[in-house]
This record gives sequence, C-alpha cells and structure tokens, in this order.
Amino acid sequence: MASRPISPLWNSLALDRGAPRSLQDQIVEYFRAAVLEGRLKAGTRVPSSRALAADHAVARITAVQAYERLVAEGYLASRPGSGLFVAESHPKHPARTAAAAARRAQARSRMPVLKRSMPALAMPPRPNESMPLATGIPALDHFPWRDWARITARLHRERPLDALGHGDPQGERELREAIAQYLGAARGISCAAEQILVIAGSQQGIDLTARALARPGDAIWIEEPGYPVGRAALEAAALERVPVPVDAEGIDVAAGARMAPAARLALVTPSHHYPLGFTMSLRRRLALLDWAEGADAWILEDDYDGEYRYGGRPLAPLYTLDRGHRVLYLGTFSKVLAPGLRLGYLVVPAGAVDAFAALKAATDRHAPSLAQRVLARFIAEGRLAAHLRRMRGLYAGRRRALLDALQQEAAGVLQAFEAPEAGLHLVARLAVPAEDVAASRRALEKRIYAAPLSNYHAGINRERGFVLGFANTREDRMAPAVRCLVEAIAETRPQISQRKRTNSAAWQCTA
Ligand SMILES: Cc1ncc(COP(=O)(O)O)c(C=O)c1O
Repeated sequence: MASRPISPLWNSLALDRGAPRSLQDQIVEYFRAAVLEGRLKAGTRVPSSRALAADHAVARITAVQAYERLVAEGYLASRPGSGLFVAESHPKHPARTAAAAARRAQARSRMPVLKRSMPALAMPPRPNESMPLATGIPALDHFPWRDWARITARLHRERPLDALGHGDPQGERELREAIAQYLGAARGISCAAEQILVIAGSQQGIDLTARALARPGDAIWIEEPGYPVGRAALEAAALERVPVPVDAEGIDVAAGARMAPAARLALVTPSHHYPLGFTMSLRRRLALLDWAEGADAWILEDDYDGEYRYGGRPLAPLYTLDRGHRVLYLGTFSKVLAPGLRLGYLVVPAGAVDAFAALKAATDRHAPSLAQRVLARFIAEGRLAAHLRRMRGLYAGRRRALLDALQQEAAGVLQAFEAPEAGLHLVARLAVPAEDVAASRRALEKRIYAAPLSNYHAGINRERGFVLGFANTREDRMAPAVRCLVEAIAETRPQISQRKRTNSAAWQCTA
C-alpha cells in the first residue's frame, strides 16, 4: 500500500505539563486513541521523533521512547529508510468507534485514581514462587523458623507496650543500629544509624527516592535491560525512564550522558547487575559518580543480593567510593531472609533524612514495630550472619546444579551467560530462534517459572532468553525443570520439536 502523507492531525497533540501522567505516556495515549478511533489511517506517516520533539518541546528521548512503545504494541510500524507509519493492522480493540471511546473515557473519569496511576504500569506477572526456577526467591524452606520463633516468643512475653502504638517513621532505633553494624561487617559500609530509614522492601525505597528527589516528567536513567518491578515504581511516579544500555562493565555512562545528560537520578545495580549478573567496573563507577556530581544528579544503588558471592573478589558497594554524597544505598531482607517480611533499608545523606522520614510517614507511617524488633535481635545475636553462611553454601551447590543441568539437558538450545559467580539467579540466552515469552507461558503450564529475558528490556531491541532462579529450587529438581523448559521451547517452536521429542522419549516432564 502506498504511504499517505504525514497527517496534519498530530499537530492537535496537546501536552499537559502539569498532569501527573508523564509526557511520554501522554504522547503514547494520544497516538493510540487516534489510531483506534480511526483519526489516523493505516499507512499514514507519522512525524520523525526529531520533529515531534521539536514541535512539542519535549526531549528527543521522550519522543523516541513513545514511538518505541507504539511500535512494540503494534500501532506503528517502521519501513526501513522511510520512517514510521500507522500499522496496516493495529491491535484488536473492542472500541474502535468514537462513540465507544467516549463511553470508555466517561467510565474512566469515574475512577480518577485508576485513570491517573494505572494506565500502562508494566508489572511483570507474579510468579508462583514455589515453582522451580522462580527468580529472585531465596530458599523459603530453609527460613530460620526456630530462631525467629524463639526471639518472637521472648519479645511477646516482654509485652512491649511502646511497640503497639505508632512508632518512629525512620524505623526502630535498635534495628537501625543493627543494620548499621551489619553493613559495616558484611558490605564495608560505614554509616550511622541516623542515616538509615527502615522501609517496606526495596520497592518502597525506589518509590520514596523517586518522589523525594524528582518531579513528574524528570528523566531518570534505568539499566537496559533492568529490573521491571523497579521500572514500574518509577512509572507510577511519572518519571521519564531512559533505558541506558548495559555491557560487561555495567551501565554505559557515556551513552547515558548522551541520551539524557540532565537526568535527576540513575537507578543501578553495580554489585551484581540485574538481570545479566555483571559487576560494574571501577572505571564505570568513577565515571558514574563524576556524572552525578557534574549533573547535580543522584544515584540509587540497589544492592539487592550483594551478600551472595561464590567465587572471585567482590568490589565494595559504589556507596563506599562516593565522596560527594550523591549515592543512596538500598538494601533488602527479601534475599537474605524472605520477601514476605517486607523489610528493607535506605541509607541517605544525613541532610536528607528528615525529608525521607516525613515522606515515609505520609505514605504508611512506619514499618511494623514488632517485626522490626524481632529482626533487630536476630541480627544482633549473629543469627543473620550464621544463616547467610549456610545459605551461601546451599546456593553455590544449587547454582552448580543449574549450570550442569543446562549443559546436559539444554545444550544447543540455551546458553548460560558468562557472569561472576554470584546472586540467586542466572541468565540463559536462547541459542535457537524462538520466542521467550511464548515458551515461558508454555513452561508455566508445566509448573516451571522461567522469566522471559525480553521482559527485562524497556526498548524494542530485546534479547531472548530466560532469567532462572536457582536458590529456591532443590538440586534434584534442576534437571527435570530444565528438561521441561526445553520441551516448552520446542513446543512453541515447531521446527525443533521433532528432534527434541526423540531426545525426550526417555523421560517425562514432571519437574
Ligand atoms: C533488582 C532487584 N532489586 C530489589 C529486589 C527486592 O525487592 P523487594 O525488597 O521490594 O522485595 C529484587 C527482587 O527480586 C530485585 O530483583
């Protein structure tokens, strides 16, 4: 079909800079509605991202990312050498008529909260965490119940009335002191209990930081690929997420400085990149700190599983190199104990503590006091250090078992990623042309949770593979789980199913 000229219609795009929705979201919604309601016809050329950015006074990256989302969703398509066009067949939608769109708009306006914050929050599906290979989950069946129960019982017998009223928004003093000591011993971080804020897991740390240090519409660097759940928190805070590529040295600071030099914040995982597993090089760490100082920006260091290192020498957290007080350090008890505790911590510069505590109080007052006190005693008695020692041994074995299973059961289909021996997961790339999202869905039917690597990307260049957790999977279940995954890949990819079926005749997929 011959292309139609650029439609003058897009000039009616009116961006509201005071709106809680980001500029990128507004552009995406404008084009979606125009296509669905038939105001932009198939084959119509849309303006270049450069022209869109210039005419509407938005950053080029905002226009580029809005277009990338529209391409990924199937509203626009690119023709090499000639630009972007409204796709010939766009996503099926029940309401393509103007009347139906108006009805939807009216229904939405009766739900102001949903309208404001829910539209495209890209939260990945929540895995069934008991399934083999579920990523990010520690060994839940090794939770230290006995010590936890003993400490809880003793605390409850003391009947601490002061733990039953409202507590300190910054967190219980004894827990903040225990965390400060733990960070010194385990991560080489020297900080005072006064700098620590006890939070409801890393997720709340990302949310509070986004809201304390940036305004809606501000740019923030995120790692590409990166942590989708963290991205969702930034999206909910209406920040412009700028996906900065990651290589074996970590986030590409020069690329970030080109893409969004004036970003307010960078969310990074220097100790163990999530999900690829690289450790950020010293060179990049220094470059990142330099950029932050020069740009008057902040760095949020998400050290989600830095405690787990099975070989090689770890680099100290970025926080320990920071002389300009640009780094906020984020830690969690989700990986060292259990995510259901919903307890984590944020180390902030002394001058920012009151503002963060006020924001925490305004959000949910404070973390549960009794649970904080139990955890404080658990750490102070040395039980956390002992638990970690045991878990490191267990996970090193489980990691080895997963690597062996990949080699034996998935050779030629999946290729494990070369990365330091660390963390609770590893990445296996697809070595055959196949769709990781479809294969992951099929694997779920076999009760295997293999998170698709492409979901960890925000842009349109997506690697295909799987992010596989090994910590909550017993060694004897690794090989059957990997076999099931290979079978799922084969079933969603007809051309290799024949060969794999022959290989798989001798076993049953019963992970
Ligand atoms: C990169 C990253 N950061 C943080 C977390 C922990 O999140 P939370 O403390 O909110 O449970 C995870 C868990 O999967 C993660 O993958």
